Amino acid sequence: MRAIVVDAWLKGPGGLEVKEIPAPEPAATELLVRVDSVGANFFDILMVQGKYQIRPPLPFTPGAEFSGTVVRAADGDARFKAGDRVFGSTATGTGAYAELIAVPAKYCLPVPSTLSLEQAAGLYITYPTAYAGLVLRARVLRGEWVLVHAAAGGVGIAAVQVAKALGARVVAAVGSNDKFGVCTAQGADHCVNYRDASWPARVLELTGGHGADVVIDPVGLVEKSLRCAAWNARVVVVGFAAGAIEKIAANRILLKNVSVAGLHWGAYHKNEPERIPEVWAALLRMAEDGLVAPVVYEPVFHGLEQAKDALRAIASRATYGKVVVKPGDPPARL
Ligand SMILES: NC(=O)c1ccc[n+]([C@@H]2O[C@H](COP(=O)([O-])OP(=O)(O)OC[C@H]3O[C@@H](n4cnc5c(N)ncnc54)[C@H](OP(=O)(O)O)[C@@H]3O)[C@@H](O)[C@H]2O)c1
Repeated sequence: MRAIVVDAWLKGPGGLEVKEIPAPEPAATELLVRVDSVGANFFDILMVQGKYQIRPPLPFTPGAEFSGTVVRAADGDARFKAGDRVFGSTATGTGAYAELIAVPAKYCLPVPSTLSLEQAAGLYITYPTAYAGLVLRARVLRGEWVLVHAAAGGVGIAAVQVAKALGARVVAAVGSNDKFGVCTAQGADHCVNYRDASWPARVLELTGGHGADVVIDPVGLVEKSLRCAAWNARVVVVGFAAGAIEKIAANRILLKNVSVAGLHWGAYHKNEPERIPEVWAALLRMAEDGLVAPVVYEPVFHGLEQAKDALRAIASRATYGKVVVKPGDPPARL
């Protein structure tokens, strides 16, 4: 089969190479899946450079998130059979930029009938992160104001859709006015640009002076968000896309009775596995009801050769939703 193979740490995605390698042999508990679509992630770029928290032994095939069709089911596991549409992620964060992947069945889920395989490639990480942030950590209530940072990104768009599905009102915060349209198309009530220093005042204005009851922050904007937080606000720390880890003045948390909550969705497998089926049941129901649907960035990248362009596009910060690579497709003509 064809796959991207990294056999030495790269300077960047430009060095990615496609090679012919043996098809993976699935273990008894694994599915063999023909990969239709790979959900590209910023951490793929870090991983191929050896700069990510997971440094796989060389050589390896990068790529965590995928969707595809089951070629061979796991032994004695009735949940999936050959031909089923599945999506998932690998525990190692590797293996997806390939025509075939062997993956533990426990990390796979059935693709909702309402979604394409391209959409499903971006479901596995972003949507439960958004749902867990809003529901498990912030306990968002119908009618509350939710401020979502990086609202056009993978986690952000998911948070906008889930918050709206739960009956909240949403202010979408992004780094470019060009992304306002994507956010409003997904249900955001208002948009602000956090490159404009007065954005917290604008959030207060848009919420009629009330402020944000819930803040979903994948960027590192907690300190500034406290300026427009409502009394009893819950601020969920999801990530640090801007690169810096903030230090927060605790008095600002006290003044408005604010709760600051961390979220590490990936660690639920180890620490609170009983929450995982509960989160997925709610999300898959929302997807089947048409309330949530991953947004796929255009263009879709056809062929493994285009994975480097997909990852460069993510690094440029110009993308929205999920960037998708289709390993089995012929590369698009330039
Ligand atoms: N805690 C968890 O369990 C968990 C789970 C999944 C992801 N995460 C984290 O959440 C963050 C977002 O993930 P994602 O999948 O939504 O990523 P993504 O789709 O790549 O979106 C990230 C967005 O961050 C914004 N951003 C702000 N400052 C930036 C900067 N200096 N450089 C680059 N981007 C910047 C960009 O939007 P604008 O251009 O609009 O600013 C960008 O689109 C990541 O840090 C990820 O590690 C955490």
